[in-house]
Amino acid sequence: MLAWYDRHRRTLPWRARPGETVDPYRVWLSEIMLQQTTVATVAPYYLAFLKRWPTVKALAAAPVEDVMSAWAGLGYYSRARNLHACARHVAERLDGKFPDREDALLELPGIGPYTAGAVAAIAFGKRAAPVDGNIERVLARLYAVREPLPGAKAKLKALARELAPRERAGDFAQAMMDLGATICTPKAPACKNCPWADDCAGRTLGLAAVLPYRDAKAARPLKRGAAFVVISNEGAILLRRRPPKGLLGGMHEPPMSAWGDAFPASSAKLAPIKAVFRKLPGLVRHGFTHFELELQVYRAEGVSPKVAPTATEWAPLDDLKRFALPTVMKKVIAHAVADRDAGPLFKRR
Ligand code: ADE
Repeated sequence: MLAWYDRHRRTLPWRARPGETVDPYRVWLSEIMLQQTTVATVAPYYLAFLKRWPTVKALAAAPVEDVMSAWAGLGYYSRARNLHACARHVAERLDGKFPDREDALLELPGIGPYTAGAVAAIAFGKRAAPVDGNIERVLARLYAVREPLPGAKAKLKALARELAPRERAGDFAQAMMDLGATICTPKAPACKNCPWADDCAGRTLGLAAVLPYRDAKAARPLKRGAAFVVISNEGAILLRRRPPKGLLGGMHEPPMSAWGDAFPASSAKLAPIKAVFRKLPGLVRHGFTHFELELQVYRAEGVSPKVAPTATEWAPLDDLKRFALPTVMKKVIAHAVADRDAGPLFKRR
């Protein structure tokens, strides 16, 4: 497996070359970003973060709002909030040094068993066995584990621990991640290119492509709401901040209704400002971890920027980068800016 890795290793920006040591800060940053997010999406964010905040102390000294805006687009924003809290903890209480033991890493904000294992193994060469979705799949196939996920997690974790080598545990973990991402893929695995093909019980039993089994997923509920995009005669859009805690905490958004089972019955009453609003055709859809969201979008234009309702501010459309806009809110704005010939619907007086 390690021989395969040495031949096929993907050169990712945060990977050490053989013989090189890596900065634990880089390993930690990349592993937090890579949770639920692909390497292709993460790479530019990782490089931008590192350029702006080259050390954990620099990141700790940044205002949390800056970190949230720089994170915008990566999703799962509690990661960004925890990232900053963890940086402050390490900078202030540990003099900028990450602990090298899994149990001590686990104590830090936002670090769970996967990240603790990954940092201990990749940054410090400890014989730790991080298990992510890719590694679960590889192991379920290698050992033909037929118990469905999530129940099988403990068993897979135990198998990973047994398998982890004393030497090069970090490379071994990353080799399994790469194997899962490039060969032992969810559908149609390329077994003929796999270094473990001869040892793979799943393959012998003809189960490689269908493992791991999973419990039937509970359907994600659907929530609905209405968003109000107000554009000023100077080309700015009205934004407010979400409450600091909870989903997309502290991020910016156009004013909108609460999200419930149905679209609001009387959107006119909810509009944030007196203006002519047009209801745009179509909907904005977004999938969150625990629910799906559908938003109707209403737009008002040519509004005087002299008035901004309490707790809102005008954000210039050509300088939205300064604002922490999650992907769903970017979709709402793009939808509203793209569509310019919807008919008038109502006027709030
Ligand atoms: N996914 C999470 N961590 C990773 C790593 N270090 N290499 C490749 N994919 C990953």
